[in-house]
Amino acid sequence: MIRGVIEGTGSYLPEYRLTNDQLEKLVDTSDEWITARTGIGCRRVAGPGEETSKIAAEAARRAMAMAGVEAEEIATIIVGTITSEMTMPSCACLVQKEIGAINAYAFDISAACTGFIYGLELADKMIKAYPDRKILVIGAENLSARVDWQDRNTCVLFGDGAGAAVIGADDSGRGILATKLFSDGRLGDLLYMNAAPSLNPYIGSPYNKRKSAKTEVFDPARLGSPRDDEGSYIKMAGREVFKNAVLAMEDSIDKVLEEAGLSGPEIDWILPHQANIRILHNLGERLGVPKEKIFINIHKYGNTSAATVPIAFDEANRQGLLKRGDLVLTCAFGGGFTWGAEIIRW
Ligand code: UT7
Repeated sequence: MIRGVIEGTGSYLPEYRLTNDQLEKLVDTSDEWITARTGIGCRRVAGPGEETSKIAAEAARRAMAMAGVEAEEIATIIVGTITSEMTMPSCACLVQKEIGAINAYAFDISAACTGFIYGLELADKMIKAYPDRKILVIGAENLSARVDWQDRNTCVLFGDGAGAAVIGADDSGRGILATKLFSDGRLGDLLYMNAAPSLNPYIGSPYNKRKSAKTEVFDPARLGSPRDDEGSYIKMAGREVFKNAVLAMEDSIDKVLEEAGLSGPEIDWILPHQANIRILHNLGERLGVPKEKIFINIHKYGNTSAATVPIAFDEANRQGLLKRGDLVLTCAFGGGFTWGAEIIRW
């Protein structure tokens, strides 16, 4: 059977590191609380020249280089994002221009933290129909632009980053074995963000009132300054989201394992969405997979929404952790709600 297979991975993390100690000066929080309750020690904040499409394009270039695929060979670009710097063109079209993928058609997926996994499922189905194609699936976010830096309930959690994968065809048994995707719009008000441009208001950019990004410097001290667009911040009922995330991801994992005819202990690696280290440890226990087999980088980057899964894929891949034939499980949960799980034979 022909399946979509990951031929190359790439990621890009903005240079600027915002630590828990720095956040202590912005809001009433502590390194101890953030570390114990979330597992996050640091997160990246995008600066000038690191708009969502730019970091997405850099992740894509790295994935294409690993896959040995030229930009002209890319047939489709799918970007999972809720924080593109523009509503139109789509982030995917901005990436297309940036990397010169002149033969592709390009579009975004709005599925919050599950965006990359939704994209992989689409890519797998496209590859089954057109096995000679190469598809770029990307998850990229600039969440620092949409966080209320005076709200300790949310501002300590999120970060910026991008990850990408080149998908091609394989008929040797490798690739995407099973996917289960879900959403439930009835619970949307537990985690939401009103529509607004996703340019970082603290740094300006070429698109933002035509200020020149080149002349502005990212200044973390400005993160605490008040904003007047109250409705466009990320709003989250953390504890409720936590409970729903645990139950929904467990359920989707049970269903995807069943579809693939596998059991938890057969999984070699879990590369999950990174929202809270307590959720990840809970998943491992539930599945009977030891902690060492759950890839965790939340301490470095926080929750980068659609970007966490492809960044995890890329880091695990480049560290040589994933061996050919390994069974890799990924899962995510995010605003919408959206969630799902997927099993890949590496
Ligand atoms: O990616 C999308 C999916 N997202 C998730 O899955 C995230 C799910 N939620 C979570 O990860 C957790 O619920 C949080 C990390 C957001 C919060 O952890 P929690 O253990 O659920 O804390 P809580 O919301 O129940 O709050 C406990 C206390 C509260 O104080 P009181 O009311 O007990 O006095 C909060 O005000 O912790 C307080 N608190 C903080 N304290 C210090 C909340 N945020 C902070 C903070 N620093 N940053």
